[in-house]
Amino acid sequence: MLVWEEDRQPSQSAANSANLNVAPSQAPVARAAVTASQASPSASSVQSASERRVNVADKRIINGQTDVNQLVPFKYKWAWEKYLATCANHWMPQEVNMSRDIALWKDPNGLSEDERRIIKRNLGFFVTADSLAANNIVLGTYRHITAPEARQFLLRQAFEEAIHTHAYQYIVESLGLDESEIFNAYHEVASIRDKDEFLIPFIDAIMDPNFNTGTLENDQTLLKSLIVFACLMEGLFFYVGFTQILAMGRQNKMTGAAEQYQYILRDESMHCNFGIDLINQIKLENPQLWTPQFKAEIKALFLKAVELEYRYAEDTMPRGVLGLNASMFKGYLRYIANRRAVQIGLEELFPNEENPFPWMSEMIDLKKERNFFETRVIEYQSGGALSWD
Ligand SMILES: [Fe+2]
Ligand SMILES: [Fe+2]
Repeated sequence: MLVWEEDRQPSQSAANSANLNVAPSQAPVARAAVTASQASPSASSVQSASERRVNVADKRIINGQTDVNQLVPFKYKWAWEKYLATCANHWMPQEVNMSRDIALWKDPNGLSEDERRIIKRNLGFFVTADSLAANNIVLGTYRHITAPEARQFLLRQAFEEAIHTHAYQYIVESLGLDESEIFNAYHEVASIRDKDEFLIPFIDAIMDPNFNTGTLENDQTLLKSLIVFACLMEGLFFYVGFTQILAMGRQNKMTGAAEQYQYILRDESMHCNFGIDLINQIKLENPQLWTPQFKAEIKALFLKAVELEYRYAEDTMPRGVLGLNASMFKGYLRYIANRRAVQIGLEELFPNEENPFPWMSEMIDLKKERNFFETRVIEYQSGGALSWD
């Protein structure tokens, strides 16, 4: 089963049991609760200590008034569990041996021109994409989320985006690619620029220092931004690139890069699933946001994103290569878009699409798939989340 096929409805039972997790307050009596909308001591400082204790039932994903510095009592255990799962998957780019990739890249007969084009286009998109994702979290999303267990995940996610940018930079450096060409691709290559220009307004909207949630319109703006990032950027715009590089690895080419992409795919799959849980929890807590007009707007964004990613597929694969061609991705992108739409409570946009790349599902769920690129030498995991052998 794909990770994204799991039941993504956030647990509602956590709220009932979480009071068991309330720790005795260690806070000084005079310390004021700090909420997202209240950064300095104010009226709450005159409350009694017991009145200031966080009541789990009062916690909200957005527009919450409880102390964002108090992780427990937990309400959103799914967020905490995902935070723990991402920590269990820790990895660093420099642990992956790139020597075979370097030899292949430097061999004039090692790769075809079309294969080299795929690698350069791929890195051209990803070297800036994960910086966009990180900035969106740190400067945009984070301050609007008022559940500390969700914030904890976002902090981990932001660090993982830094690791991903590091990984792409490490591949560029290892292969000795022209850094100015790769890092400027998002300005200079239309198929990449168009994807980024689609995303940037959704970052800018929530990064604006004058933007705050608390009205129907602004809460919808935040929700739209979360949907664009989880479902369309991390959940769709990454998938042509991931599939191409992993297909290369399956043919025993660029196995170091492919292994890095495999770890990144696992991380992104978790980011996407967390984002979807967050979106669904906001919908549950704020059903007034999910209007017919809003849904129509989201569907239009999905259609536009599929179109942009398909154009990227055509640009990166002007001819068939590695057993892939652009038209195969039309079906794949429609299949993925359907999954994302259903996960957030929309109908399928392209009914009855099949997955043309079932092997990608195995890549996403590493728990079932051994690490067949086998170049990494260090494992952090002491529990059971990684089982390579
Ligand atoms: Fe990333
Ligand atoms: Fe991500």
